[in-house]
Amino acid sequence: MKKVCIVGASGKLGRYMVQHALDYGYEVVGVCREKSVEKLDAFKDKIVIVPGMTNDRIVIEEAVKGCDGVLTVLAPWGVQQYSSGTAQAVMDFAEPGARLIFSCGWHITQDGKDVYSWKLKAFVKVFGGIARLFRLVELDDRVEACRRIFASNTRWTVVRGSDLEEGESQGLPVWSEHVGDPILESNLTRRIDFALFMVAALENDELIQKAPAIVGCQTPSVLDWSTRPLGVKPEAKYTNSKRQLK
Ligand SMILES: NC(=O)c1ccc[n+]([C@@H]2O[C@H](COP(=O)([O-])OP(=O)(O)OC[C@H]3O[C@@H](n4cnc5c(N)ncnc54)[C@H](OP(=O)(O)O)[C@@H]3O)[C@@H](O)[C@H]2O)c1
Repeated sequence: MKKVCIVGASGKLGRYMVQHALDYGYEVVGVCREKSVEKLDAFKDKIVIVPGMTNDRIVIEEAVKGCDGVLTVLAPWGVQQYSSGTAQAVMDFAEPGARLIFSCGWHITQDGKDVYSWKLKAFVKVFGGIARLFRLVELDDRVEACRRIFASNTRWTVVRGSDLEEGESQGLPVWSEHVGDPILESNLTRRIDFALFMVAALENDELIQKAPAIVGCQTPSVLDWSTRPLGVKPEAKYTNSKRQLK
């Protein structure tokens, strides 16, 4: 992995990903809306910026050229297939064999086996309905974006973030295949670590064509899980490059 493109680089998650990618020694190309270019001022001498809407196919075609990996923030803004248009353009124009990592939330399900709390279900229903009413956000389009990604034969990973908080890094988050697994119960990840997981996924082939749901590695549900005696541990998938919780 030498050169990576970050689609949605100027957002909160995007800027953390830019920093991690530079720390990994990658060459970075960032895509963001023209009006947000100045949010990347801190990196302007270190990365190439391609200004434009992320669902603009010409912008994406130019930005992903020669990139070994593409990190995409799937944002459900407006009602013009912003997420699905972005994801489709990335899949259509990325170099053959490139690693494609997409961000989204826990509410996306790949196989329908996730178990959601009533709070999350109510939030998605109420927030999605109000946002659609005011034509602000199109949650269904992010579902469509992920449906297309899951159906593609590219080397994708969809990283499903829990609730997020700001703060210093605690290390690489832990993941599990399904929301509802006890290890994820704390439902909290530092945004900087969500970004770290996205960047680390570029070189983790175990995550190809998977949709890991992540949680902070220092949260109570992870700490509780890792101290339980063997045999009492609920079945869960987990990886953490610093510590294997098996
Ligand atoms: N927030 C959470 O609690 C949460 C929880 C779980 C998962 N996630 C996932 O994390 C990722 C990042 O989310 P975030 O909440 O942390 O926000 P974020 O990183 O700030 O990203 C928001 C993105 O949307 C873009 N954007 C904002 N308004 C826009 C508009 N009107 N039209 C087009 N693009 C617009 C931003 O670009 P500009 O810089 O140009 O504004 C930015 O790239 C998303 O994939 C989200 O699903 C978030």
